[in-house]
Amino acid sequence: MDDQPLTERGDNRSRRPQSAAFKRFMTEDWGPVDPDPAAAKRLAGADSAALRRRQLANRFPGDRLVFPAGQLARRSNDTDYRFRPHSAFAHLTGLGQDHEPEAVLVLEPLPDAQAAGDTHEAVLYLRPAATRETAEFYSDARYGEFWVGRRPSLADVAAQTGIRAEHLGQLRDALAKDAGQVQLRVLREADQIVTAMADQVRAEAGAQPGPPQEAPDDPDAKLAEAASEARLVKDAHEIGQLRLAVAATIEGFERVARGLDQAVAHRRGERVVEASFEAGARVEGNGLGYETIAAAGPHATTLHWIKNNGPVRPGDLLLLDAGVEVDSLYTADLTRTIPVSGRYSPVQRRVWEAVVDAADAAFAAARPGNRFRDVHDAAMVVIAERLEEWGLLPVTAAEALAADGQQHRRWMVHGTSHHLGLDVHDCAQARQELYMDSLLEPGMVFTIEPGLYFKPEDLAVPEEYRGIGCRCEDDILITADGAENLSAALPRRAEAIEAWMAALRPPASPR
Ligand code: GLY
Ligand code: MN
Ligand code: MN
Repeated sequence: MDDQPLTERGDNRSRRPQSAAFKRFMTEDWGPVDPDPAAAKRLAGADSAALRRRQLANRFPGDRLVFPAGQLARRSNDTDYRFRPHSAFAHLTGLGQDHEPEAVLVLEPLPDAQAAGDTHEAVLYLRPAATRETAEFYSDARYGEFWVGRRPSLADVAAQTGIRAEHLGQLRDALAKDAGQVQLRVLREADQIVTAMADQVRAEAGAQPGPPQEAPDDPDAKLAEAASEARLVKDAHEIGQLRLAVAATIEGFERVARGLDQAVAHRRGERVVEASFEAGARVEGNGLGYETIAAAGPHATTLHWIKNNGPVRPGDLLLLDAGVEVDSLYTADLTRTIPVSGRYSPVQRRVWEAVVDAADAAFAAARPGNRFRDVHDAAMVVIAERLEEWGLLPVTAAEALAADGQQHRRWMVHGTSHHLGLDVHDCAQARQELYMDSLLEPGMVFTIEPGLYFKPEDLAVPEEYRGIGCRCEDDILITADGAENLSAALPRRAEAIEAWMAALRPPASPR
């Protein structure tokens, strides 16, 4: 069989019968499947998604807007990652969890704006479940129900979302309709196959296949920007989902604190921490909102420490940065830096309390009328002042805070805040004037996460600081007259954390 194409050799491990008798028998004698009460249940977020579609579509009258959910992503060889739809698709349909690979939301321009104010009609194109009379049912390991379990029908998805559902096979014609007359805009990053289809449709209509992404007037880039900016202010449904995500995340932190002795006992204690948090995330939610940072001792000075393969030693700090993503795909993003022994050493306490003071200053600046960047600036004043107080800055705090100074940032190179929602770093394609330079508005949700990181080999600080890394991260909702700390239930001050740990760990456990 030397002439067997490489692409077919993956099937050499099994021998699916090819006989006509087998194929016929596989399509026969299937009784009705028990109805799934959730299959056609309207999603809790369907109404708010409908409002978002209308608001976004109103910005592009006459244009056809295309938001793919994305393809299954290959993990290795013929195994895929669990599917997660693109966040813009989730935002505009309300579909979360693993719904629905390959689906595409099209906002189709209506010939005449309707009385109700709709400029577009939403249509979802998707690959519905194959019936039991088809070979796909048992032979398609990616989509056949014999392999992957029950999949929704077009009617199910229409009932869940309130959006007309059509077979994916209709998508190309839908994109090509009136090509050349209708401006087609596609969210390019979500699905290469749909993007290539849209470019081909444009090329056939005589248009260029999509200008470079960087061009500011690129129609596709404008759509991505608008979809990102549409998420800057969260509605009541989204805030409710974020509250659920925060609550599940706090439970995860409690679970980790409760099991810290097991982490100490294992040579890869950081993995024990990571695994404990992830177990809760999968049980209570859809999973993790991002890879957990479980960083003990000096690993906490590596900002994105996700190897999590080190020990957790008594006397060290443990920086845990983790978030549960709930089924609707909204995520929390919280960090606490806790003493493994249950008590901070004097220098650990000094650094941690400084970071919490910086967070408090940032929190005080988080209110309507202030700008997003004011939150960061407020935190930086505290960080620079503490570093000056400890004799670590080579200049005064005032000089460091000047634009041509910034020496304090050696020990906190990251930003203080980012928007939070369906993506942990939400609204990433929003314009600067609507992000860093924007006024804060009720409904915005973002993190406040100052930190201080003294690398073990940092000769600019006295030895007692070396190897200490601390970050405190909370999730904040801007309200009409200030801000609410959504994660206030997770203790922040050193004393409160010590009391919390003492209450969670059985008194008999060895320290
Ligand atoms: N966990 C990523 C961040 O805090 O931004
Ligand atoms: Mn964050
Ligand atoms: Mn974080």
